[in-house]
Amino acid sequence: VVNGIAPGIRPGGAGGPRRITILGATGSIGRSTVDLLTRIPGEFEVEAVVALSRGRELAQIARDLGARIAVVGDPAAYGELRAGLAGTDIEAASGEDAVEAAAGRPVDIVVAAIVGAAGLRPSLAALRAGSTVALANKECLVCAGDLFISTARDMATRVLPVDSEHNAIFQALETHNLDQVERIILTASGGPFRQWPADAMASISREQALNHPNWRMGPKVTIDSATLMNKGLEVIEAHHLFGLTPAQVEVLVHPQSVVHGIVAYSDGSMIAQMGAPDMRTPLAHCLWWPARQTTPSPRLDLARLATLTFETPDTGRFPALRIAREALESGGWATNILNAANEVAVAAFLEGRIAFLDIAALVESVLERVAGTALTQTPRTVDDALALDGEGRRLAQEGIGRRLPV
Ligand SMILES: NC(=O)c1ccc[n+]([C@@H]2O[C@H](COP(=O)([O-])OP(=O)(O)OC[C@H]3O[C@@H](n4cnc5c(N)ncnc54)[C@H](OP(=O)(O)O)[C@@H]3O)[C@@H](O)[C@H]2O)c1
Repeated sequence: VVNGIAPGIRPGGAGGPRRITILGATGSIGRSTVDLLTRIPGEFEVEAVVALSRGRELAQIARDLGARIAVVGDPAAYGELRAGLAGTDIEAASGEDAVEAAAGRPVDIVVAAIVGAAGLRPSLAALRAGSTVALANKECLVCAGDLFISTARDMATRVLPVDSEHNAIFQALETHNLDQVERIILTASGGPFRQWPADAMASISREQALNHPNWRMGPKVTIDSATLMNKGLEVIEAHHLFGLTPAQVEVLVHPQSVVHGIVAYSDGSMIAQMGAPDMRTPLAHCLWWPARQTTPSPRLDLARLATLTFETPDTGRFPALRIAREALESGGWATNILNAANEVAVAAFLEGRIAFLDIAALVESVLERVAGTALTQTPRTVDDALALDGEGRRLAQEGIGRRLPV
């Protein structure tokens, strides 16, 4: 068992269809999951599909997949959801409690693809129901990693990493040689501003930041990729998933996004996983693991690619990676605050309320403000984690209101 990851999940096809729930079904990861289930019918029966406010789209997904229940977190979207489900016997519900209840219906596997700390309660409910969690929602581990992994352990259930870098590490890890792992390397594309001079970065626009060179993703993770905060969140995610020290988790910028992750062993071997930048590959790996399944993801043509390059990240121009590492060294309170402040900062940037470089500056100033207060305790319960998260959000909003820093 590697911190909640253990072999033995029942592969598709053995003993009839398995049951699945998709949290965040209308999002980028959710739609990739829907695409796989639609292309490969008969392997899964869909229990629940969940979104926040896109009721009409969710109703269509529920119809297409024949789900038992569809739930929107936002009660204002309930009417649209109901209308979209008219004439079917698919149940509809709304509100945060309904989201958590749907996530907690026991199934074989829950795809956790809500964005942000909003996914924490539902993802924990899935673990507590004994369902395997295919985790895309990395913020759960950044907000409450110890709690999340200990819940998986206590329930003897599994967390399978969907995030492409962590899925790569999962694929390259030899479970019989875990004590021979020296370090792992997570790759980063470097985002759209990898080669920008520092003085040009002050005026980065929303549209420029949303234009990721290699991946098509939801807006929050796209901005996180542009600041490199995404890689910082992923270092924290890897620490929790694989039980590695912060120093064992390295990051290299690899602009081609072909090699997603590398495990370096004590004999000098490095085992890497490669693939086109298409989330259906790691998703299929989780959904059918330990079997493999055919996907429509593009195939790599290495001769045509010809050159793969790697470089050390520039934490001068991209301080978010340094800030995230420092938070990991400081403890669970700090990664929680890091995540909360970052969510607020990214939303403010997308709304045009702060500049691109303010994102990392705001996060750092909120962390400094909290350090040395009584808030610096690792959250032990979900209520603790969300209370701390609320405080981080409040301080970040305060900083934005005061035109930074807090
Ligand atoms: N996209 C990728 O390629 C990728 C790769 C690796 C990891 N991830 C991670 O996967 C997660 C999802 O990313 P994404 O790009 O798929 O995001 P996205 O496209 O923005 O989708 C987010 C999904 O979560 C739903 N949602 C948001 N808040 C919710 C709430 N409070 N209750 C219920 N549902 C809620 C949204 O519903 P509405 O549509 O109704 O708003 C939507 O279905 C993130 O943690 C991200 O870091 C994504």
